[in-house]
Amino acid sequence: MSDLRYIRVEWDGDIAVVTIDRQDKLNALNADVIRELGEVFTNLGADSAVRAIVLTGAGEKAFVAGADIGELARMDPVAAVRMSRDGQRVFQDIERCPKPVVAAIGGYALGGGLELALACHLRIAGTGARFGLPEVGLGILPGYGGTVRLARVVGLGRAIEMTLTGDSVDAPRALASGLVSAVVEGGVLVAEGKALARRVTKNGPLAVRMALESIYRGLDTASGEAQEFESSLFGLLASTDDMREGMRAFLEKRKPDFAGS
Ligand code: COA
Repeated sequence: MSDLRYIRVEWDGDIAVVTIDRQDKLNALNADVIRELGEVFTNLGADSAVRAIVLTGAGEKAFVAGADIGELARMDPVAAVRMSRDGQRVFQDIERCPKPVVAAIGGYALGGGLELALACHLRIAGTGARFGLPEVGLGILPGYGGTVRLARVVGLGRAIEMTLTGDSVDAPRALASGLVSAVVEGGVLVAEGKALARRVTKNGPLAVRMALESIYRGLDTASGEAQEFESSLFGLLASTDDMREGMRAFLEKRKPDFAGS
């Protein structure tokens, strides 16, 4: 990876912890942060030593307080479309990452910050987290996939309410609406993110990867076609050593030892 200014990558065994660190601007996403995020996820996605990724923001105040408003204020229409497409591409890369990605959200997840969290596969929150899409208050709309992904996660009614009012919700409300799957004390947020990641990585890596592929393909495809795709992946997994190991381990009453092949 080239020199990273705003992103730190740390390791805990086979889990990579990616921290967005631009604390003086509440980790707001400028073009450099977006580019570095893309680079980091491309590399981690292709790295066979990585089994899962936890994404978080530095400091207690924010996960990410949105796209950089200083940059947004300077954009003309052409630059605005390019900015939106660049962010969407990186967030799609995160969503398509073959390793499970857990967002560990402490503090503000606003605008692009919430959109980034929505591109992750799993989300947990610290008790002080706040979630919102304040874009309409700035005269724009969420342009990094938020108008598409929020409704898929919390349902159309809540998504429309959050998007049109721009109001933020606290962690308990986010939990109740399914926006996050757990709320934990801020001090153990990353540890809990890793613990959630480990609940996934104990399973067959190829099975996890293909389950993710099937779920996301299903969102964009008619049900019958999506289920045909599911069957193909089901068949493909039946050709793997992991499938034989998983079944054998169950029958031998022991924990499986997956090789990822
Ligand atoms: N873009 C650029 N800078 C941002 C930012 C953003 N999205 N969010 C926060 N910052 C900067 C502030 O400008 C400030 O910088 P400064 O010290 O150089 O003036 C610094 O981060 C700290 O933020 P501040 O507003 O002083 O903190 P606060 O605790 O008073 O308020 C928020 C926190 C999150 C409520 C407030 O920063 C905010 O509303 N941010 C914008 C959120 C938003 O609209 N995001 C969507 C953008 S599309």
